[in-house]
Amino acid sequence: MVFIVSDRLGDVVAKFPGAGKVFKENRIDYCCNGGRSVEEAATAQNLDVNALLQTLNQSYEKAVAEGEKEHDWQTEAFEALIDHVVNIHHAYLQKTMPVLSELTSKILRVHGQHHGAELSKVHKLFNTFRMDMEAHLIKEEELVFPLIIEYERTGNKDKLALAVQNIDQLESEHAAVGDILHEIAEVTNEYQIPEDACGTYAYTYEKLEQVEEDTFRHVHLENNILFPRLRAILEPVRA
Ligand SMILES: [Fe+2]
Ligand SMILES: [Fe+2]
Repeated sequence: MVFIVSDRLGDVVAKFPGAGKVFKENRIDYCCNGGRSVEEAATAQNLDVNALLQTLNQSYEKAVAEGEKEHDWQTEAFEALIDHVVNIHHAYLQKTMPVLSELTSKILRVHGQHHGAELSKVHKLFNTFRMDMEAHLIKEEELVFPLIIEYERTGNKDKLALAVQNIDQLESEHAAVGDILHEIAEVTNEYQIPEDACGTYAYTYEKLEQVEEDTFRHVHLENNILFPRLRAILEPVRA
């Protein structure tokens, strides 16, 4: 048994990224709520904790047996981790969010008559997500990440301390955007399209679900790996 009931979700995914898929399949949020234990998360979702644990351990063993190699972000340089976050996850959002703003408007216009209540909520929620996320990405890219990179290049701990001062705020922004994504999943009944949906409707829901999945991976890297590593340098005893 690699994982046990008291393990924190964030730590499980940090050790074994494939666990993210298992959690997603069980509708467990491991990034914004990564501090919960496996047991707490299973109870909240009305799941059998032992069955969940067994699935986790089996998929871990399978990954090990197949020699799957993932990046070990726990030991990579901060600059490499930040480059990955910005070039993969931030770039994905910058590209996808404007497209989804248009799509959520379009399906509201076309299907508003029959599905107005759901689609106007989706439209509003997504655009709130977009606005919050845009400001958040700017704060990371312009303020916090450059401080971390400067600390790593020069060893100047004042820069690190300044970066760490902003982490609480970034974490609460993650929780806020995570809540919006949960609301979208709820309103759309886990992205299920109605029978009379057109191709654009289906495509929009598919894209919205991808945004959820990508944001979970993205926030996980920041909340469960980057931020704890930074805090641990400043407060080695407490961490
Ligand atoms: Fe980010
Ligand atoms: Fe972030």
